[in-house]
Amino acid sequence: MFVRIDGKALAARLREEIGRQVSRLRQHDLVTPGLAVILVGEDPASQVYVRNKATQAREAGMSSFEYRLADSVPQTKLLDLIERLNRDPEVHGILVQLPLPPQVEESGVIQAIDPGKDIDGFHPINVGQVAIGGPGLVPCTPLGCLMLLKHQLVDLSGQHAVVLGRSNIVGKPMASLLLREDCTVTVAHSRTRQLEDLCRQADILVAAVGRPQLIKGDWIKPGATVIDVGINRVEAEGRTRLVGDVDFATASDVAAAITPVPGGVGPMTIACLLLNTLQATCHQYD
Ligand code: GUN
Repeated sequence: MFVRIDGKALAARLREEIGRQVSRLRQHDLVTPGLAVILVGEDPASQVYVRNKATQAREAGMSSFEYRLADSVPQTKLLDLIERLNRDPEVHGILVQLPLPPQVEESGVIQAIDPGKDIDGFHPINVGQVAIGGPGLVPCTPLGCLMLLKHQLVDLSGQHAVVLGRSNIVGKPMASLLLREDCTVTVAHSRTRQLEDLCRQADILVAAVGRPQLIKGDWIKPGATVIDVGINRVEAEGRTRLVGDVDFATASDVAAAITPVPGGVGPMTIACLLLNTLQATCHQYD
């Protein structure tokens, strides 16, 4: 029987649990987890993401601090703000929304964040910890994907996982996490040959390429579990709608389970950001 993996419902349950832990921290330890979100520029999609992150943090009982900087902000000013937030005891998690404008060097910004407050898990220390199976903060989108996979499959050991996409935000950390779960992992990307044949060998297919509905039903192994990370805006009949990297209609005839777009990975990503903020808070008070 085909399963539409309900990320929205799972994320709601996770946020409730986080909310309970936040109220316990506030009551017993007199600590309120604090999330600082920095948005540079006016990118409409980033504005929506940042607003959702801040709103959901407040709904979970956390403090949310938002910083909006002009598109033309010099790197030094952004670094000064990060330095101030690194030292601020009310801020436990710092997120700089990507992408950044061209005058700002992304890696310098990421490395300026205190690794203990790096709730995106993008700092090289956290990237390294995830790669060696250590205790670092794990990037939110792949963490959400892993939770959805474990909810669906329980044990991932021995499964052939094909990850489509090699970004630092999704593809690479996803591959590390799946290796930690004893999957056999293949990472495919835009230069991969015979991509369709490779996809057809996947017991688990994670699609994070940003190409609307690229993956059709006949690319999928019967009974596979498919995680669709894509959030693509397409114009259809005069309206904008969101579609994933997977063609849900044809894929659902073949796969055992798929995450829908919207309502799959997206809500889990924000819930995992709150989870990371809670984890960062607890570590800072250990
Ligand atoms: N832009 C797209 N995805 C992300 C993310 O997970 N974190 C940040 N900071 N920016 C993003």
